This record gives sequence, C-alpha cells and structure tokens, in this order.
Amino acid sequence: MSLHINGSTVSLPLDTRVSLLDFVRDHLQLYGTKKGCNQGACGACTVLVDGERILSCLALAVQYEGRSITTIEGLANGSAPHPLQQAFIDHDGFQCGYCTPGQICSAIGMATEAKRGVPSYVSDDLAADVILTRDELRERMSGNLCRCGAHNGIIDAIREIMAAETLE
Ligand code: FES
Ligand code: FES
Repeated sequence: MSLHINGSTVSLPLDTRVSLLDFVRDHLQLYGTKKGCNQGACGACTVLVDGERILSCLALAVQYEGRSITTIEGLANGSAPHPLQQAFIDHDGFQCGYCTPGQICSAIGMATEAKRGVPSYVSDDLAADVILTRDELRERMSGNLCRCGAHNGIIDAIREIMAAETLE
C-alpha cells in the first residue's frame, strides 16, 4: 500500500491508526505541516489531496492509498518559492510562521473551490459566479487560525495572487 507525496511514492504505515499528519511529520520527516490542536479546529495541518484541502490531523494515512498529497514542501519550484509564498513575505502575512504552511495550502485549495463555483456561508446568491471579495476570503479562510493575528496580511497576499491568477 502506498501513496504519492510531493511527487514521490512512499509506502503507507502498517499501523492503520496513524493519522496522515503524523505520517507526514513523524514517518516522512516533512515537518512543514504543523500540528496545532490535533482535533480539527485550527487548520495548521492543512494539506492538499488531489488538489483539495483537508485537515490531515483528522485523516488516517491509510485512507489515502493511491492518492496524491501535496504539502508545503511540494509547492516551491526548486529554490524559487511558490508565488503565494512570496506574497506572504511581501505582505507580512506571518509572524511566528506556525500557521503559514496550512494557510498557504488552504488558500490554494480554496482557490480551486472558488473556480468550481462552490459558495461560502456569506455568498448571497448560491448560483452566481464566485467573486472573491475580502469578506468572502475571510470566510473561506476562517478555518485557518493565526495566533499572531496576521490575518490582514494573509488576506492581502491571497488577494494579490488571486488577482494575478497564479495560485495553481
Ligand atoms: S492540527 Fe489539524 S486542525 Fe489543528
Ligand atoms: S504567524 Fe504565528 S500563528 Fe500565524
């Protein structure tokens, strides 16, 4: 049993109780994905599965056999950061940085949801095209908490990159 992570194929753990978060961090030594609450409340552990954002602390690794996982380590292009990583730097979208990998993975997954027309809690018209206003972005990113209060910079960074349509 195996899955793909950041372009590499890895064997899944024999212990079926291992969460995807613990598998990524403790078995693969990919420490970019962070453990905050470990109970689905903070978003620090967000990764992408076939392009969709999930909370890896609430997932068992074995559930993802054959799937493609992307962590923050898989986003950069060699030594060049992903455009959204650069935007977080440019807009002071972090202080301690603990939430940042989850924020960036979540924003990329969120952009895909918006392109598919998935409405949010604050969308007035469920059938209308999604317009990512600041309020929409705040709501769509509300599952990712920042204890340092860098939310304004985070939203600024996402807005800049979404305007340039380079999130993928
Ligand atoms: S560590 Fe997964 S949501 Fe907080
Ligand atoms: S930058 Fe410190 S928790 Fe977000």
